[in-house]
Amino acid sequence: MVIDCGSALRGDAGSRILSPFLRGIGVRKVDILVLTHPHEDHVGGAAALLDEIPVDEIWIPEGIPVEAFGDSVAKRAFRVRGKSAGDAFSAGGASVVVRSSAPGDRWGANGPGRGRGVNERSLVLEIRYGLVSVWLPGDVEQGPDAWGPERAGERRIRFLFLPHHGSPGAAPDAWCRAAAPAVTVSQNSNCFTRRNLVPSVQDFFLENGAFTIRSDGSEAFCETNRHAQDLGVPLAASLARGGKSC
Ligand SMILES: [Fe+2]
Repeated sequence: MVIDCGSALRGDAGSRILSPFLRGIGVRKVDILVLTHPHEDHVGGAAALLDEIPVDEIWIPEGIPVEAFGDSVAKRAFRVRGKSAGDAFSAGGASVVVRSSAPGDRWGANGPGRGRGVNERSLVLEIRYGLVSVWLPGDVEQGPDAWGPERAGERRIRFLFLPHHGSPGAAPDAWCRAAAPAVTVSQNSNCFTRRNLVPSVQDFFLENGAFTIRSDGSEAFCETNRHAQDLGVPLAASLARGGKSC
């Protein structure tokens, strides 16, 4: 399963990153491509991926027209499935569950592909494997209500991908309180080049004993307190030494 494809605006993430990565790890076919919502930075790379690697099934939020995801998806409409809360896919002992595609229909009010209403329609996903739960809230900005109620016995080791790339407008602090994650991931280049996109969240982590790792894919920086110095460890060298330098 592949979840979102990145942008095609400044170099096509589909052909430049995603397809080479998948081929490099031996993937010759994708069972399910999930497109969480029809914003370019999530679906732009889908055209190249669909051209280069066979995809069995494409998941989109139920109720959003397939045409909103671009011509390459629309011409494969026979492979597209609209998904909503409770839908799931299992393989290899892991399962991926749709927690929600946010309530309300603001699609019409905002027009295809425009406006924050589209973010709120993101597919919110959970990956479950053993005791581990990975929270993938897409770009929702309504806060952790989008996750829905936790049930007794829910997985206790949580990895949280902050919604909307860690945007301060997507209530990252509320998501952290709701998930109490072991690991939080914020996907935004500003986290690397400007120390952190959400300083208040980083301060909270550091003041409570967490450490942070930032990487642009070639280098990794670690911080264990607010005033720690960057170590500037080349990632390849760090990995070659077992990753302990960071
Ligand atoms: Fe978005």
